[in-house]
Amino acid sequence: MPDTPHDEILRLRAEVARHEDLYRRKHAPEISDYEFDRLRDRLQELEAAHPDLAGPDMGIGDDRIEGFEQRDHAEPMLSLDNTYGREDFGAFVERLRGKLPGADLRFVVEPKVDGVALSLTYERGELVRAVTRGNGFRGDDVTANILLIPEIPRRLAGAPDLLEVRGEVYMRTDEFARLNAEREAAGEPLYANPRNLAAGTVKLLDRAEAARRRLSVVCYGMGACRPAAFSTLADLNARLRAWGFPTSDGFRLADGEEGAWAAIQELDATRRSLPYPTDGAVVKLDRLDLQARSGATSKFPHWAVAFKYPPDQAETVLRAISMQVGRTGVITPVAELEPVLLAGSTVSRATLHNADEIARKDIREGDTVRIQKAGEIIPQVLGVVPERRPADAAPFDFEARLRELGLDAARHGDEAAYRLRTPSRDVKVRRLVHFASKHCLDIDGLGDAVAEQLVDLGLVDAPTDVLSLKPEHWALLDKFKEKSVDNMMAALSAARSRELWRAIHALGIPNVGMQTAKDLARHFRSLDALAQSRLDSYVVKRVGKKGQELKAYDTVISGIGEEVAKSILSYFSDPNHRDWVEAMRKGGLSLEEAAAATATSAAMAGKTFVLTGTLPTLSRDQARDLIEKAGGKVSGSVSKKTDYVVAGEEAGSKLDKARELGVAVIDEAGLRKLLGD
Ligand code: IVH
Repeated sequence: MPDTPHDEILRLRAEVARHEDLYRRKHAPEISDYEFDRLRDRLQELEAAHPDLAGPDMGIGDDRIEGFEQRDHAEPMLSLDNTYGREDFGAFVERLRGKLPGADLRFVVEPKVDGVALSLTYERGELVRAVTRGNGFRGDDVTANILLIPEIPRRLAGAPDLLEVRGEVYMRTDEFARLNAEREAAGEPLYANPRNLAAGTVKLLDRAEAARRRLSVVCYGMGACRPAAFSTLADLNARLRAWGFPTSDGFRLADGEEGAWAAIQELDATRRSLPYPTDGAVVKLDRLDLQARSGATSKFPHWAVAFKYPPDQAETVLRAISMQVGRTGVITPVAELEPVLLAGSTVSRATLHNADEIARKDIREGDTVRIQKAGEIIPQVLGVVPERRPADAAPFDFEARLRELGLDAARHGDEAAYRLRTPSRDVKVRRLVHFASKHCLDIDGLGDAVAEQLVDLGLVDAPTDVLSLKPEHWALLDKFKEKSVDNMMAALSAARSRELWRAIHALGIPNVGMQTAKDLARHFRSLDALAQSRLDSYVVKRVGKKGQELKAYDTVISGIGEEVAKSILSYFSDPNHRDWVEAMRKGGLSLEEAAAATATSAAMAGKTFVLTGTLPTLSRDQARDLIEKAGGKVSGSVSKKTDYVVAGEEAGSKLDKARELGVAVIDEAGLRKLLGD
């Protein structure tokens, strides 16, 4: 049955909210900007057609997360509307002409840098803070990490009393490649793309790690400027350069719609040789007085727009379709391609998503296919080029291929994916490794090699089996002498007292990563409550003033929409998984969020801590955990509201700032005392 507009609006709002959160807070988008815009446009269209069904304005998203002080912007930081194609761009200029009749429209055209928007506040020429966009009005104070970028001037000669310099923090393509090469060498999973890594780095609380990843910045605008000092963007650009700010190499001025269009085309021809990836141009009115006259919506200025270039595409031969088995036993078909150059890199594999997708597009081995990369990292197969199909190409039989490969898989309910009916050895090993990994139960010493042995010896089938292993079982493992057995038993006993979110993450619920696991733990407070949750625990219909059900929905837990909710429900509907929960309980895990009241110590409750330098025995994460468990808060930067700065070796500017503001400085021993150790 087709969706009613009401259903569709509910679904779209949940999806838009989820993708906003993935992009802005988790730095791990699942869809391209283009796909996101399409969702948002469709929602807007529906809400305009059915105002009675519309929900509240969804804003421009929000990047604020725990651990940072928040700061107001003196002038709001808006986002930009996107345009695609000549006509769409023409409509933007037309609207602008309507708002500014008779004005000469001179535009600045610049590459759109894909990073994180940043506002640098200078008071009487001194850099006082760096703040992210946040919700547009209030953002996170990320000064500590931004100070790691040496190109940002700390002091400006002859500056206005107050100046907010606006720009974008990004990661250069070569720096991204360098960091990924290191990850690859260490056998760690690769970072997805430079934008997400830049966004993650700006919000990193581990300063040493942040310092290792070199960020860059480009400045292209301003917020508040008191007293007024500039009349055009060209003016501002020249001054920013003179002060030493990195500005855009691609900055150009263009007259009228035709001039701007020509500049957009020119930029398209040169953009691939820029040191950062860019998929668009930003076009903005040069004159600040005209900008002010044209105004803004709640999200976008009328005087500027982003133009998105069509994604890069190529044609190549699909040599074969292979099957990839994921940690949860999900099978993903992969296109093995004749290598081809696309958007500056050689592509030899692309995702085919699932069996339905292959059938719908009638993709066959031997076909010539059209592939595309649009911001996402893994290229997509758009479809086949029918006239180049070899005469002997047969329709792809997904199930027959699974049988040939010896993969016994089936589909559950309305899931698109095939999943192994009984987990393979490899799946058992990988889910055990995940279960024991650092961001799950953190079972020290249980890595790949040990997991393989446990599975091969038949000691572990479900990952939770590991909790009930006795010393005599461990002694069966290769090279496990008494000492290693003792260590393992100690590691397991430590794992039993881990927090609820770790147990949730360890279960390996599809679509539930670490952040979502934390959100779920905070909300449900016990694994039983989570296992018993229903769809309306996540998405609820909005109720009007008179108690009538409005045709709009709310997500109960920010960022968790229908898709994740369904994934959780489907997971716990499997009796095996319910057994896992029982096994965890029998294995001695508490499966409840430590009650704040009992854990909180009076000395710690509500206090704000800032960590700096290297502590003698505690890692940043451990110190943070201890503080939070005791009811304290950890922030990334020192302010008057900070109660304690915990300083270790090589403490940097935070320590200076603490002294300057007269904030109490303690060491690890001091922290332990407060914790009642
Ligand atoms: S001007 C009112 N210029 O792209 C906002 N923004 O998708 C005026 N961006 O919010 C922004 N490169 O974070 C401008 N050369 C450039 C840019 C740029 C990247 C970012 C910025 C903006 C976002 C919109």
